Amino acid sequence: MDYQAILNVIEKELEHFDPGGKVPDYIPELAKIPADKFGMHLYCLDGKNFSFGDHDERFSIQSISKVFTLALAKKHGGKKIWKRVDVEPSGDPFNSLLQLEKENGIPRNPFINAGSLVIADILISELENPKEYLLDFVREISDDPTIEYDEKVAASEYQHGYRNIALVNYMKSLGNIENDADDILDFYFHQCSIAMSCCQLAKAFVIFANEGKTLITNKKVIGANSAKRINAIMQTCGFYDEAGEFSFRVGLPGKSGVGGGIVAVHPGQYSVAVWSPLLNEKGNSEKGMKALEELTSLTGLSIF
Ligand code: DON
Repeated sequence: MDYQAILNVIEKELEHFDPGGKVPDYIPELAKIPADKFGMHLYCLDGKNFSFGDHDERFSIQSISKVFTLALAKKHGGKKIWKRVDVEPSGDPFNSLLQLEKENGIPRNPFINAGSLVIADILISELENPKEYLLDFVREISDDPTIEYDEKVAASEYQHGYRNIALVNYMKSLGNIENDADDILDFYFHQCSIAMSCCQLAKAFVIFANEGKTLITNKKVIGANSAKRINAIMQTCGFYDEAGEFSFRVGLPGKSGVGGGIVAVHPGQYSVAVWSPLLNEKGNSEKGMKALEELTSLTGLSIF
């Protein structure tokens, strides 16, 4: 497959595509990002990689980080994590509080904010220094020691994080949070603030395409069974109330973030990251979704 030729077509086709939408103004640091950024990077499992545009520029990975923290919680918390968070699509916005009351504080899945806050709580209970551990893990799977938290983004979100503050306190009142709410929020806002490029993200996500093994060292960092299950949750829950639409249009497991990034995985073939900051009303990058739809249409390959 000539992936570079296909990426070149996508870049050209979408050069003048106007996705509409807006950058996320509820996190003021992210509202400063130029809306016209656009880049894509694809890594095959043999290390061959292809790219265009702003693929090397770092941006805030935001909710894409929920996949990394789930992988760590599964590794360190084992099966008992599923008593605290479910694996059903929510069909509601990522920051919704609605279902929690009826469902006794058990979030629908680990990729909505409530679910990721429970995962953060689990990691704080299981690990000595969870912030350092997470960063080391992301650096290891990306084979890049320069990846960092963006303290400005983390602080900016903390100042305006009313919904996440409400979610964690609400779940604590319902008995599904063990640690101090402030510690959980600090961890969560930091995980979302990690700055990575499409190139680094595509490399990191190879573990989900490659049965838990890293690209460069072929080291097994999570079990093949974990990779399978996390891909299944990405497929059904990675795009909140737009998960069906992404599945329908793209046909790959994927995860989005309000920084405008999307990562998708074709198990056994490749992982791919795309970045375009303008978000649709569901909080997903519209141009990013379009680029991935083009990728699976032009290659004629998806998991379906
Ligand atoms: O908690 C928040 O609102 C953000 N830090 C992350 C949200 C996000 O990326 C949702 N994804 N599309």
